Amino acid sequence: MDGRTIAPGQTTTPMNLAVLGAQWGDEGKGKVVDLLTPNFDIVARYQGGHNAGHTVYVNGRKFVLRLIPSGMLHPGVTCVIGNGVVVDPTALFAEIDELAHAGIDVTNRLFVSDKAHLILPYHRDLDLLSEARRGERKIGTTSRGIGPAYEDKIARRGIRVGDLADPAGLEKNIRDNVNARNRLVHDSTMEVEPVLATLLDQARRLLPLARDVSLMLNDAMRAGRRIMFEGAQGTLLDIDHGTYPYVTSSNATIGGACTGLGVGPRAIGAVVGVVKAYTTRVGEGPLPTELSDDMGQRLRDSGNEYGAVTGRPRRCGWYDAVAVRYGARINGLDALALTKLDVLDGLERIDICTSYRCGGKTLTEFPSDVAQLAACEPVYESMPGWTSPTKGARRYDELPEAARRYVARLEEISGVPAAIISTGSDRGETILRQDVIAAKLGSLVLKTGD
Ligand code: IMP
Repeated sequence: MDGRTIAPGQTTTPMNLAVLGAQWGDEGKGKVVDLLTPNFDIVARYQGGHNAGHTVYVNGRKFVLRLIPSGMLHPGVTCVIGNGVVVDPTALFAEIDELAHAGIDVTNRLFVSDKAHLILPYHRDLDLLSEARRGERKIGTTSRGIGPAYEDKIARRGIRVGDLADPAGLEKNIRDNVNARNRLVHDSTMEVEPVLATLLDQARRLLPLARDVSLMLNDAMRAGRRIMFEGAQGTLLDIDHGTYPYVTSSNATIGGACTGLGVGPRAIGAVVGVVKAYTTRVGEGPLPTELSDDMGQRLRDSGNEYGAVTGRPRRCGWYDAVAVRYGARINGLDALALTKLDVLDGLERIDICTSYRCGGKTLTEFPSDVAQLAACEPVYESMPGWTSPTKGARRYDELPEAARRYVARLEEISGVPAAIISTGSDRGETILRQDVIAAKLGSLVLKTGD
């Protein structure tokens, strides 16, 4: 950590920051959260599960965090998994073990809400089954059991981390759930005992991590400690505000931070939306700026756009300012963290989608209806590209002029300034725009890791 300092703003009260995805996920939240962690005492994940894959590079070494908050690579920082997250104990333990193998000890630094719901083996089966049943209308899920676990939560039959402390009650619930699954799935003869035995075994490791996370965070705030709220997936994958039904099953948008952790809205001092300098999406559903040609492949190759969790190739397209403006509105974004600018290095021209053309009309607002979105054609504005590289730039004035003009246009058309610009995967390959940070984030972001 080099403790590069940024002019502090006027605020003296400790304030907290939310960092979330403002596109279709995979925006580079892991890097941004890791980078900003030195300013915070606690990093708290508020939704999603191990469908997320937050990639962090430190000194060229790659870490993929799925459930564990991306602040974990900083010694002394506490990481919290909120009640809004769905936890697969097997995946969580595998991640803890991977970190231990890399010399990162989570002991007394990682806590899980006792209200977080568990993903059980039958959820994974049901995820696959539900996709198969949807046929051509499949969502393209990550097959991790995320949707079925949230379904059980909403249907009030889910099993929470805290339930592991009551083996008798747990047995009854597992029996009901496994039997229900056997009725639902043709030819299924899943047995209760192995599911229960595994869970009771896992309880010994999971229960010591369980906490009342809302109480923990509110006590911490009263004691003047700073929290970063970490979102997973992205605004357009949000269950309410995303491109329903082609979405994940949780609130990736800012409201999820309050409900997924048990903190009030005033706990959130500012919101940073992470966006790529272009657009990607994994899974099914409309993507207005999708490029199915050589340019799409060029972005995929240079951006290494393959899923961190499933390895699936990501669909790639130009920056969609209609979608980002929508993300800015839904989340009340104060600033953007613009990532992967370097992926555009060497392109002759770069397009930006400024509006949609739909049924003979021009749309400047993101439509609510997925069928309408699917029928939209992007309206592009073309900008000249740049030949000298942005890769690794650490200062805004190091960027080629055309790249600066591109960033300025994205800010203007998205309606939000870029406080952070990422020019490579390593922590140091980042531009911190002190003027924007001071104006929009005040004392929130003072120093970064290196
Ligand atoms: P699920 O979250 O596995 O149910 O998948 C629902 C949709 O969200 C699918 O289109 C997935 O590809 C997408 N999705 C889920 N998690 C992520 C993520 O972390 N990044 C990008 N897309 C995701």
